[in-house]
Amino acid sequence: MTVEISPPQLPMQRDCPFDPPADYARLRAESPVTRFSWPNGVEAWLVTRHEDVRAALGDRRLSVDRTASPPPSLALGRASGVMLPRSLVGMDPPEHTLWRRLIIRELTVRQVARLRPRIEEIVGECLDQMAEAGPPADLVRAFALPIPSLVICELLGVPAADRAQFQRHTEVISAVDSPAEQVQAASSALMGYIGELITAKRRHPGDDILSHLAQATVNGSPVPDEGVLGNGMLLLIAGHETTANMIALSAVTLLAHAEQVTLLRQDPRLIDRAVEELLRFHAVIQYGLVRRATQDLTVGGQQVRAGDWVVCSLASANRDEASCPVPAEFRVSRETSVHTSFGYGIHQCAGQHLARLELKIALSALLARFPRLQLAVPVAELPFRTDMFVYGVHRVPLTW
Ligand code: HEM
Repeated sequence: MTVEISPPQLPMQRDCPFDPPADYARLRAESPVTRFSWPNGVEAWLVTRHEDVRAALGDRRLSVDRTASPPPSLALGRASGVMLPRSLVGMDPPEHTLWRRLIIRELTVRQVARLRPRIEEIVGECLDQMAEAGPPADLVRAFALPIPSLVICELLGVPAADRAQFQRHTEVISAVDSPAEQVQAASSALMGYIGELITAKRRHPGDDILSHLAQATVNGSPVPDEGVLGNGMLLLIAGHETTANMIALSAVTLLAHAEQVTLLRQDPRLIDRAVEELLRFHAVIQYGLVRRATQDLTVGGQQVRAGDWVVCSLASANRDEASCPVPAEFRVSRETSVHTSFGYGIHQCAGQHLARLELKIALSALLARFPRLQLAVPVAELPFRTDMFVYGVHRVPLTW
């Protein structure tokens, strides 16, 4: 049965900042693969059950490649298209396989574990500066944004002094209502910036990911420039934005659940479980992952035709009662928090080990440094990011 629903509104309406829109629960029960229209009028299928989301993301007949049919900026819901440079998130195999190998080897559990002392140092410096300036502080500006930005700068070999510039461009690209021309301009500026860095690194390579990509070869030939540029830009954006928002949102979620933060303070070893639960609780890629069918197929019992667009809702999948008992409850001690927040299948997040480590170090240190940490305003007054593709909070005034 196909039930018509009103299209997810951009910004999408949430009743509570800690929960995805309530409509998802009804869809999972009544119409788990449902037709809807984006605000730009293009129609698509929305997949809301955990099992179906994983099956769809693991299905090679659902493609991410938009070159054959340039998107009318579907994921963005905008009227006119913006072409972002080609990167892993827009490549199917075998092109994807080549670039994925080059990138994943830079971000293995082992590689990332080596960064621990440096991440701890960066976190410590941010906390020192917060303590020195005294309360109130904006957690986003003072802590959540600088930590992953500084870490990804070091990994990529991007000057930390330029971070205000790339953070600004990222904000424009990420806002759901940025006009297409502005997104195009921000994307071109970022491409120009990374392009210059790559040229410099070809002349004087360092021991960083951009230098490694710029020098990579396949069957003896250099890898295409476009891929170095596109993937460099993807890593720079994905490497700081999602994690920054998860750090801020996690801190707010913990502070708003007093009994959970007490449990974590009493037993700091719970941090591994707490981070996994926070990832389950908030799928920050809030409007889901977009795919396009290359052949006819069935998704969750629904016939999908070649050429149809399919959106997998990670936020809904994470709250599916079939994969998680009492999913609306936030419990830092939950033994297994099954989630799709890093996606699933061949495109599953390449930076997830780094993201987890940053979250664990940042949240543990924040709670340890300020035993009386609290929100300086009620949760209802916080500006949550329903206007951005990556959910989070724009500002978090804190006191201690
Ligand atoms: C909490 C933080 C993060 C979240 C929630 C997150 C989420 C995701 C999701 C959902 C995808 C799948 C996209 C798709 O299937 O279309 C993805 C892909 C990706 N992420 Fe992350 N990410 C995070 C942090 C990071 C970090 C720190 C990096 C880099 C250091 C990174 C790099 C990437 C890359 C390169 C891909 C593309 C993988 C591919 O297409 O093969 N992410 N991420």
